[in-house]
Amino acid sequence: MLTIIKTRRSVRQFENKEIGDNDLQEILEAGMYAPSAGNEQAWQFIILQGDTLAQYLKLNKNVPQSAPLGILVCRDLNLEKYKDMHSSILDCAAATQNILLAAHTKGWGAIWTAVFDNAKPGIINLLKLPGHIDPFSFVPIGYAKNVTKEIPTRYDESKVHHNTW
Ligand SMILES: Cc1cc2nc3c(=O)[nH]c(=O)nc-3n(C[C@H](O)[C@H](O)[C@H](O)COP(=O)(O)O)c2cc1C
Repeated sequence: MLTIIKTRRSVRQFENKEIGDNDLQEILEAGMYAPSAGNEQAWQFIILQGDTLAQYLKLNKNVPQSAPLGILVCRDLNLEKYKDMHSSILDCAAATQNILLAAHTKGWGAIWTAVFDNAKPGIINLLKLPGHIDPFSFVPIGYAKNVTKEIPTRYDESKVHHNTW
C-alpha cells in the first residue's frame, strides 16, 4: 500500500485505450469505501465519456484533454449531515483520493482536477444536475502515455511537530 501511495503521480497524457468495466467498477467501489463524516457517504459519481466528456472538457480547460473517460465526483447536499463543516467536501476529497489510488493500483493513470465555480453553471446545464448535487472533482482515467515521471522524495521533517509548534 505504501508503495502505491508513493508511486502515484498525476497523469496528464493518455493513450487511446479505454478502461474496462471491471476495473472501473473496482475504482468506483474504492471511492465508496472512503471514510466519511458520520458515515454519511455524501457523494455521487457520474461517469463521463464520448460526446458528454468532450463537452465537459470544452467547459473545463484545466482538465487534461486526452483521457477516454472520467469520473465526476459530486457532493450530495441532501446527504450532508454536518453543514457547519461542509462535511460532503471532506467525504468527496477522501473518495477522490481512493479513486486515484485504486486506478494506480490497477495500472491506470489518473489525475484529480478541480471544478472551478465559474464552470459550474455550464456543467449543471450539461449534465442536468439537480440543485442538491454539487460537482466537486473530476478524475480523468486512462492508460498513461510515457510513464517515466520522476518520483521525488516528499518526506519533510520540518513539517512534523511533536506535541507543540
Ligand atoms: C484539489 C486539487 C485540485 C487539482 N486540480 C488540478 C487541475 O485542475 N488540473 C491539473 O492539471 N491538475 C490538478 N491537480 C493535480 C495537482 O497539480 C498534482 O496533484 C500536484 O501537482 C502534485 O503532483 P502529483 O499528483 O503527481 O503528486 C489538482 C490536485 C488537487 C489535490
